[in-house]
Amino acid sequence: MRDGPSITGRDVVTLDTFSAEEIRAVIERARAHKTVGHGSPLRGRSLAMVFFDPSLRTRASFAIAFSSLGGTVIDMVAGRDLWALEMQEGAVMDDLADEHVQDAARVLSEYADIIAIRALGKEGDWARDRRDRVIVSFQKHATVPIFNMESVLDHPCQAWGDALTLEEELGDLPGRKLTLAWAYHPKARPLAVPHGISMMACKLGMDLTISHPDGFPLDARVQQSLEHTAATSGGSLRSVSSLEEAVDGADVVYAASWGSIDRHGSPEKERSMREQHRERRITAALMASTNGARFMHAMPIRRNVEVDDAVVDAPGSLVVRQAGNRLHIQRALFQEVLGV
Ligand code: CP
Repeated sequence: MRDGPSITGRDVVTLDTFSAEEIRAVIERARAHKTVGHGSPLRGRSLAMVFFDPSLRTRASFAIAFSSLGGTVIDMVAGRDLWALEMQEGAVMDDLADEHVQDAARVLSEYADIIAIRALGKEGDWARDRRDRVIVSFQKHATVPIFNMESVLDHPCQAWGDALTLEEELGDLPGRKLTLAWAYHPKARPLAVPHGISMMACKLGMDLTISHPDGFPLDARVQQSLEHTAATSGGSLRSVSSLEEAVDGADVVYAASWGSIDRHGSPEKERSMREQHRERRITAALMASTNGARFMHAMPIRRNVEVDDAVVDAPGSLVVRQAGNRLHIQRALFQEVLGV
């Protein structure tokens, strides 16, 4: 345990529920552990991870972080390892679902000190998917802290790890310029990363520029929250359609792809809209116009579709360090939430 702001016992579902001071305290702890080590403070503790969608970095960093601190990890894939879960409160369960989420959450709480969920939503309608019903149901019924390993709306541990990488690279973040740049992807990717990164940048007082083609805004309520956060943190937030204008003067270009919320329930219409922007890619020429901006991406990357090889593999690319820092931030987060 250490002095300072405490997040012990809290859910980690969105950075919006944490103060800048709390975010920075976890980063400090992660940085300290990189140099002095960490021991086995989670001996006798356990983590239950439930995946409704695939993952490389999040799965590996969560599992290795928890077990390297002496804890036990169980990793379950929904649809393969779990009974089919019913999410509807008060449902008459005479259809396909075998177990109600309220029972699964309460039972897992008997075994695990933390439950972590990845669930990207599949209801096909933005108003429904944005409710993040899987995460919210686990939050409601579990009696232990819930970690969001990426949901429809957010990816807080990615953003927290990226804040660590940014601080290592840039030092103090207030006033530094981060451009979140939409790049073409053949699939409609979730909005969790752009939402999470934007919230992190606004919380920590950065000057955030978001650049996307027409028809690809962030969720309207998240956008409102970002504007409020930037106004109170001393940061700034602006939207610029032109990629060239958006990256001008940036300290960091953070590439991401996301689908159109307006056409979320109409995959063919969404695809035809996205296909109009196939050429919107982070190129070496674009990065050369920035006066030495670093490049970031949460990964996985569609090389030479979203981003040129020459950008991903350039000395100013932080992508592998970002992925590595997921492990360091996760160790710090587990200890802070478990109060050890
Ligand atoms: N960035 C990230 O969350 O990667 P995975 O989807 O592989 O976990």
